Amino acid sequence: MAGINWYNTNSRSDEKCSVEVQLPLCSLADVQLRFLCPTDLDEVRALCQEWFPIEYPITWYEEITSSQSFCRFYALAAVYNQVIVGLIVAEIKPYRILNEEDSGILAKAFVKMSDVGYILSLGVSKQYRRNGIATLLLDSLINQLTTLEKRKVKAIFLHVLTTNSAAILFYEHRKFQLHKFLPYYYSINGRCKDGFTYVLYINGGHPPWGLCDYVKFLFSTMIKGGGLFTWIFGKMYSAIFWMRNSRTIRQRPEL
Ligand SMILES: CC(C)(COP(=O)(O)OP(=O)(O)OC[C@H]1O[C@@H](n2cnc3c(N)ncnc32)[C@H](O)[C@@H]1OP(=O)(O)O)[C@@H](O)C(=O)NCCC(=O)NCCS
Repeated sequence: MAGINWYNTNSRSDEKCSVEVQLPLCSLADVQLRFLCPTDLDEVRALCQEWFPIEYPITWYEEITSSQSFCRFYALAAVYNQVIVGLIVAEIKPYRILNEEDSGILAKAFVKMSDVGYILSLGVSKQYRRNGIATLLLDSLINQLTTLEKRKVKAIFLHVLTTNSAAILFYEHRKFQLHKFLPYYYSINGRCKDGFTYVLYINGGHPPWGLCDYVKFLFSTMIKGGGLFTWIFGKMYSAIFWMRNSRTIRQRPEL
């Protein structure tokens, strides 16, 4: 955001009135995206130290900027006037190997075969914020993960400090859903801080469904797609219900 000093012509000439005006500092058309490379290490490290309250080990910077990093990470820089002004680092992992606190993001049907994308870092230099640069970086990741080749990736998720309102507003603006509250998830300067997990479902992924979700889903399909979908899902639901019941009847011991 640019702060501009305006002179108020209606008041005394020496009275300076300071008004904050939001001006785009850069044209998005002039921002280029490129993968990180080994020579970016110092620049990326300085930026992360400025943006995040967490100290990453040097090996992490080496990994994300290494020429082989694209095997493991999606590490992309937004460059303006040959300077890195934004960056996103994400990785894809099998859903079944997630830590306990992240399990439950997806419905049980996805457990064995699905992958998930995890955003490790997303940041934009202070003077370039609110110019759509984080949006550009996130869109690039989403586009990459919604190709046919990556259709196994059913969700993109991240952790964020509960006090990081800019990031929370950003992710909510991008339709990420709050999944979980994580008490004392972070340790920052020796103090425990709470976190949230946010999730964006892609490629047909969805959270575990309870009966309420099923009813909500039915209503939304009814509104969106008319009666046909409701009829099909209604039939499927009664068929499953009937099969379950008939099995339990068959399994009953003879009286
Ligand atoms: C969060 C962050 C990456 C957003 O980057 P950005 O380039 O400013 O985001 P964008 O310009 O693409 O914002 C898109 C939309 O998100 C929302 N948004 C972003 N920042 C916001 C803020 N500070 N307050 C309110 N809404 C905000 C707005 O709806 C915005 O659209 P608008 O500007 O048209 O109103 C940036 O604030 C940042 O780098 N923060 C420090 C690092 C960090 O905390 N990263 C997240 C770690 S999980």
